[in-house]
Amino acid sequence: MLIAVAGGTGTVGHHIVEQATRAGHEVVVLSRSNGVDLVAGDGVRAAIEGADAVIDVASIQTLSARASREFFGAVTENLLAAARGADVHHVALSIVGAAQAPHGYYAGKFLQEQRVAASAGHWSILRATQFHEFAVQVLAQAKVLGAHLVPRMRSQPVAAAEVAAALIQIVESGAHGHAPDLAGPREERMADLARSYLRKTGSPERVLEVRLPGALGAEMANGGLLPGPGARLGSQTFDDWLAQRGGSGRTDDR
Ligand SMILES: NC(=O)c1ccc[n+]([C@@H]2O[C@H](COP(=O)([O-])OP(=O)(O)OC[C@H]3O[C@@H](n4cnc5c(N)ncnc54)[C@H](OP(=O)(O)O)[C@@H]3O)[C@@H](O)[C@H]2O)c1
Repeated sequence: MLIAVAGGTGTVGHHIVEQATRAGHEVVVLSRSNGVDLVAGDGVRAAIEGADAVIDVASIQTLSARASREFFGAVTENLLAAARGADVHHVALSIVGAAQAPHGYYAGKFLQEQRVAASAGHWSILRATQFHEFAVQVLAQAKVLGAHLVPRMRSQPVAAAEVAAALIQIVESGAHGHAPDLAGPREERMADLARSYLRKTGSPERVLEVRLPGALGAEMANGGLLPGPGARLGSQTFDDWLAQRGGSGRTDDR
C-alpha cells in the first residue's frame, strides 16, 4: 500500500514510517521539513497523489484552544480536500478524553474528530492516551526558578511504537469509524514520570507539580483523560520504556 504520513517526522510519526516501511508499504512523509506545510495547504494534493491511506499525526505544541483549533481545523480540511474524489482512507489519531474535555489543546483535537467523522469518505479515528514521551515533552515547556512546571495529571501512558502499530493495523484492515481506545498498561502520575526521566538522565533539575487552571486542569487532575473500561491496553510500561532508552538525555527515542 502507499501510505502518506502527515507528521511523519514526529514522536509517533517516525515509528509509523519505520514500521510501515519494514512491513513492505511505500511511505510518503508530509511535514515542513519535507517541504509540505499542512496549514498553508500548498503541495498537499501532489504529495498524497496515489495514496491508499493518509495517517494524520501532525501536531502543534500549544495550550491555546484558539491556536489548536486553527491548526487542527486547517490540517484536517487540507488533507480531506486534497483526497476528495479519490478512494483514500483517512486515519486520524486523537486523544482519550478530548471529546469530553474540549479545552485548551484538546479543543483542536475535538474539532479534528468532528471534521473527520463528518467527512463523506472512508475514515477512522483512534484515540490514544499520552505517549511515554509526553513526560519529556512537558519538561520542554514552562520553568520557574529552575524548576520544571508539570501539570497535576492522572494518565495511563502508552508506547508511541504501540500506537503506531495500531494505526498501521487500521490501515491494513480497512476498518471504518471509531477504533477502540488505546491506553498503556497502568495509571501513573505525570510529575512522577517527569522526575523518573530526569533521574534516569542524570539531571539534578527539579519538578514542581502544578494544577493547571480552568476546566482542562480539572480534567487532567481528576482522571478525565484516563481510558474507559472498553479500552485496549498496550504492554510497555513507562519504566520499561525508560529502561530501554538508556541514559542518553535525548528528548525523544530516535
Ligand atoms: N504526544 C502525546 O502524548 C499524544 C498522545 C495521544 C495522541 N497524540 C496525537 O498524536 C499526534 C502526533 O503527536 P506527536 O506528539 O507525535 O507530535 P510531534 O512529535 O509534535 O510531531 C508533530 C509533527 O507534525 C509536523 N508538523 C507540525 N506542523 C506542521 C505543518 N504546519 N505542516 C506540516 N507538518 C507539520 C512536524 O514536522 P515538521 O516540524 O517538520 O513540520 C512533526 O512531524 C497529534 O495529533 C497528537 O494530538 C499525541
